[in-house]
Amino acid sequence: MREDRETAKPAILFLCLGNICRSPLAEGAARTAFAAAGIEATFDSAGTGDWHVGHPPDHRAQAEAHRRGTDISALRARQLSAADFYRFDLILAADENNLRDALAIRPTDATAEVRLMLDLIPDRGGEGVIDPYYGREDGFAATWADVSAVAAALVAEFSPNG
Ligand code: 4NP
Repeated sequence: MREDRETAKPAILFLCLGNICRSPLAEGAARTAFAAAGIEATFDSAGTGDWHVGHPPDHRAQAEAHRRGTDISALRARQLSAADFYRFDLILAADENNLRDALAIRPTDATAEVRLMLDLIPDRGGEGVIDPYYGREDGFAATWADVSAVAAALVAEFSPNG
């Protein structure tokens, strides 16, 4: 991460496959957690794939976020690009596949640090956030639990008092 992070606003990108389930939920959880903590940051999310570009988050993800007091309905899916590796300080991938695909297009002089989301959580390093897309409705609650833990870890990391 960049060295002036204690004074500069961090820029964090959440990454998954389709950018309609996990990463928009992570973006929503982080926006809400940082607003509650009074910490300024820039957030965005993207997918490694392009199938859902321009689409809003999956309706089940929107419903889960809404239940948790977070509105993600205005988000629109986009695909990860090389420019993201300079625009963001930190790119957090939902799983190993997303991490591998990101590193495959990472420019050699990229400034962003690229990590797994759950590497921020003690004892969960190396784990992926389970993709709820093909599963049952309650999978979205499990995804929310993971991404809100990631959001809390980011608040702790970037808290001026932390
Ligand atoms: P996400 O979930 O990567 O968490 O947004 C998925 C969304 C769409 C697809 C796969 C995963 N898909 O194959 O269309």
